[in-house]
Amino acid sequence: MAFSERVTRLKSSLIREILAAAQRPQVMSFAGGLPAEAMLPALSWEGMPLNIGQYGMSEGEPHLRELLAAEARTLGVPCQASQVMVVSGSQQTLDLAAKLYIDKGTKVLLEGPTYLAALQIFQLFGADCLTVQLEADGPNLGALRANLERHRPAFIYLIPTFQNPSAVRYSEAKRAAVAALLDEFGVTLIEDEPYRELTFDGASAQPIAGRLKKASWIYTGTVSKTLLPGLRVGYLIASPDLFPHLLKLKQSADLHTNRVGQWQAMQWIGTQKYQQHLAQLRSFYRERRDAFQAALERHFGDLADWQVPQGGLFFWLTLKHKLDTRTLLAQALDQDVAFMPGEPFFSEPDQHHGSLRLNFSHIDPARLDEGLKRLAAVVRQAQHAQAA
Ligand SMILES: Cc1ncc(COP(=O)(O)O)c(C=O)c1O
Repeated sequence: MAFSERVTRLKSSLIREILAAAQRPQVMSFAGGLPAEAMLPALSWEGMPLNIGQYGMSEGEPHLRELLAAEARTLGVPCQASQVMVVSGSQQTLDLAAKLYIDKGTKVLLEGPTYLAALQIFQLFGADCLTVQLEADGPNLGALRANLERHRPAFIYLIPTFQNPSAVRYSEAKRAAVAALLDEFGVTLIEDEPYRELTFDGASAQPIAGRLKKASWIYTGTVSKTLLPGLRVGYLIASPDLFPHLLKLKQSADLHTNRVGQWQAMQWIGTQKYQQHLAQLRSFYRERRDAFQAALERHFGDLADWQVPQGGLFFWLTLKHKLDTRTLLAQALDQDVAFMPGEPFFSEPDQHHGSLRLNFSHIDPARLDEGLKRLAAVVRQAQHAQAA
């Protein structure tokens, strides 16, 4: 069959395969990035006008765009509603950005590790994905400067607040330094922030986009982690030079975003009810994070190192004795445990053995200890086999 040449680069998603395996009810899953079921808010559809079922504007509902722009301005991102586009989940922003910038061989710069689905989509369009090493407080600035200088990438893709998968939150100093470097080299920023609201200590984390003086930018967010992923409502805010191009690309992908979902999002964003829901979400996840940390200390203390995440949904473990964690998956699933191997979060997976991403938000607390105990046993067994 004659498919397009880009289809040869289409990889199956490891996450999807693991999530499919994790559907079995007995499986204790640390794999996905799913919100806790108990925290999905009950929705009221009362008062939704009938004409919301009609075709709408490609840019999104005007009132929702106003609300999102106002929220972004409070975070220091200078923007008008005319720069806001509602999209079908922030995943669509990555698709539109890839179409806007990437030809075969186009260099793009990403954090190492980075969001798996971003890597997949950029590689599908043929990007040469370069990596800047991530430290506990953000990217290594020397490496960032060297990459920008040497490769002049088409854009840099960053997740500065509770990064997926590493949970890293950039310091204020690194945010400022990154913005200054992007201005210096004129490299476009794509800033992806699905986890910003899930903060456990409330510390400052102003977006990088708002600090840029010259470089173009796309800032993207979503209600997937704060309301419901099922709504499929995300948004992008772009510098005025990029917006018209992104709008045309959106129109060729789908005519508009789910208007029913947008109507629901408008019942929440900017309201007191939403603030209360976010406060409940934060304390619920903080408790889950604390319970997870205690169980990790019990079972992984001698096996791995990690930072306690101050927000987001993940722990990122680095094994003290490196091994390819992809090889642990089958044994873990045999034990009814699912997790995400760390290797696929890097553009060169074989050079980055030995990390695991563990989601702490979704596991039933009654099964948390047993799940981590079994996973630790699988790691221990593999390390013995390797040493033998
Ligand atoms: C970093 C990152 N970007 C984007 C997404 C996609 O979110 P959405 O449901 O809005 O498409 C996720 C979801 O896990 C994510 O972790």
